[in-house]
This record gives sequence, C-alpha cells and structure tokens, in this order.
Amino acid sequence: MTVLGIETSCDETAAAVVRDAREVVSSVVYTQIPLHSPYGGVVPEIASRAHVEKIGQVVGSAIDAAGGKVDAVAVTYGPGLAPALIVGVNFAKGLALSLGVPLVGVNHIEAHLHSPFLFDSPADATYAAPDPRKLGHALGLVVSGGNTLLVDMPEYGRYETIGETLDDAAGEAFDKAAKLLGLGYPGGLKIDRIAAAYLRENPSAALVPFPKGRPREGVAALSGLPAELCVSFSGLKTALLRHVQRHPEIVDDRSGTRDWGGYETTPAIAHVVASYQEAIAAAIAERVRAALRRRRYSAFVLGGGVSLNSRIRETLAEECRAAGVPMLTALPKYTGDNGAMVAGLACLRRRVEGDEAMRMDAEPSLEVGDAGKESRDV
Ligand code: KG4
Repeated sequence: MTVLGIETSCDETAAAVVRDAREVVSSVVYTQIPLHSPYGGVVPEIASRAHVEKIGQVVGSAIDAAGGKVDAVAVTYGPGLAPALIVGVNFAKGLALSLGVPLVGVNHIEAHLHSPFLFDSPADATYAAPDPRKLGHALGLVVSGGNTLLVDMPEYGRYETIGETLDDAAGEAFDKAAKLLGLGYPGGLKIDRIAAAYLRENPSAALVPFPKGRPREGVAALSGLPAELCVSFSGLKTALLRHVQRHPEIVDDRSGTRDWGGYETTPAIAHVVASYQEAIAAAIAERVRAALRRRRYSAFVLGGGVSLNSRIRETLAEECRAAGVPMLTALPKYTGDNGAMVAGLACLRRRVEGDEAMRMDAEPSLEVGDAGKESRDV
C-alpha cells in the first residue's frame, strides 16, 4: 500500500509518499524557519500563510517523485497550531476527493513515534528496526518543539500518556535559552553543537548545577500522572535567567569569541549552554529510567526534533543499555516534522477514516491515544 502523508501542524510544510508503512519513496519538507526567526518563535498567522503558499508545490513534488500513484491520502489533524493544521486538512480533503482515494487523519505525536521505523534504503540503520506490528509492549518518548511526552504502548497503535511536561516542551526550553543567550532561533541544534565542542575541549569542566525539572508529587498540574514520569522546564529557564543576571559578563563580554561546533560564541556562553543541555538531558534520562523500571518493555521508541540531540541520545542509550531494552531512533532527517511519519503511521493505524475523515476538523489539542476507539489494521 502506498500512502501520501501531509504535515502542516507547525512551521514545516511537508509531504511524503511511503510504501508499506516503512519505505520512504519520496519526502519533501519546506521549512519556514527563516520566516519565523526574526520573531524568535513561530508566528501562527505567518505559518498559515506560508503553508497556503507552499502546500501545492510540496505535495506535487512528493507525488511526482514517487511516480504519481497513491492509494490513500493521510494528514495530521492535531495537535498543533489551528491555522496551520487547517491548511493541511483542507488540502488533503480536496486531494483525496479529486484522486478518488480514501482520506485518513492521524495524530502528530503518534506519527513521531512511527519515525524510527522509516527507512530510505536497506542500507539505513532503521531498516533493521522490528516490524511495528511485532513491537510488543513498548515505551515511547516524543521530545519536540511543542511536546514532551512519555507514552505507554501495549502494542503498536495503542497509546497511553504516562508522563509529560507540565509547562515548556524540551525544544522550547532549548529555544528560549538560545534566545536569552543571543544565539538566535531555533536554538536546539546550535546548543547541541556548541555544547559538544565545548565538552570535547573541556571534558572535566565543572558545569553549572541547573535544576533537573522534577515536579513535586501532588501538584495539580500533574493531572493524576506520577511526578516521577513528569518534567517541568520552567524552573530551569528561570534558573538560567537568574544565573545570567548574576553574571552579566556571560552575555556582555564578547572576548575570546571563536568557533564552537560551527557557531561563533564565547567560552563563557559555551560553558553555560553545555550546563543547560546537561540539565535537560539528565531530566529526560531520569524520567525514562523511572518508566523503564515500572515494567519490562520490549523496546524504547524515540521521536521528535529534540531526539536528534547528541547528549540526549547518549544518556538515553545508557539508560536503555542498563535496562536491557533496545532503543529505536529515527534517521536524523525524520526526527523533525515530516510527511513520511504521517504516511507511515496511516498505513497501520487509521485514527479517522471514511466519511468521518471527510468531516474532520483540525483539532489543535488532540490527545494521544483514543480510548474506546478500535485501532484498525489495514
Ligand atoms: O519535531 P520538531 O520539528 O517540531 C515539533 O513537532 O514541535 O522539533 C523542533 C524542535 C525545535 O525546538 C528545535 O530547537 C529542536 O527541535 N531541535 C533540537 C535539535 N534539533 C532540533 N533540540 C536539541 N538538540 C538538537 N540537535
């Protein structure tokens, strides 16, 4: 089965064609980052307008590159920014009607958890991932610009949120720190590269002990979820702000500026950035360790733009090794938002389909999992 996937939930206009849930035949991603970076974050109206302008071209290129024929059209209908989601949903409806093929709606976060199963060719490391249908009872983690979520997956296609951030997503924590330190938007990749270069040169540097974002048991914001599986990054962000206020020379003194991992900055900023990243990586690793202790999982499935972070991958790989659980990660190009994860998921799990899909609206707050709804194999 060959499926076209369309993704417009945030600031990427993306489309891809995937065969049999895993083989990416074509994938086109138009990123709007240059449009949003002057504002230091995603501006929903700008995102929406850019999706409208680009979607025809992006989808057309993905279909052409795959030879023109698809059996179904899949689209992300939530969660995400309403004005951005609406563009993809409406375009997908029109396209499915005009092609005379079924329309499928999928959940963006569930799609991120499909990304480790995607490959371009048998030479890719992800080709060796197990068949998703034989995954067993797995633990999932999505860390992205908009979400930080631990998900229990009793089998492929069944999801239950068991932990989440109470405030900022991990990607937001990276982006806000980068903004504060004058590194520009988005900041995740820059912080990753600068920190790696700094720690290569200063492997035993004493890092700033930033808080690890552990919420207190019983806080209302937990909404019944266990504190040991939840994270809060707002305190970390405030701790960084206070640290910079106490030591204004960190941002004011530009002496010693040079290249750190491809980015020009000072040793003082590189040191703070490495410390900050360490706190995020440790917070995430601690929650995953707690989740892995709760039951015997068959695999750990990692997705989302932040899952590309080298330190986070390293610490999570250590946790999985210690627990004896295989860790499945996506190819770098499929960690961020893309159409392939949408198409791949839709091959195996149709969250909304048929007439219901033709009536679906964008659902900005769509939740993971759908208790009471059957997961359906195609
Ligand atoms: O998955 P994604 O494209 O968007 C959402 O679905 O939200 O993730 C984008 C986020 C941004 O916050 C970006 O700063 C972060 O992922 N990011 C990283 C890295 N690469 C991208 N964060 C940390 N380390 C990276 N290497």
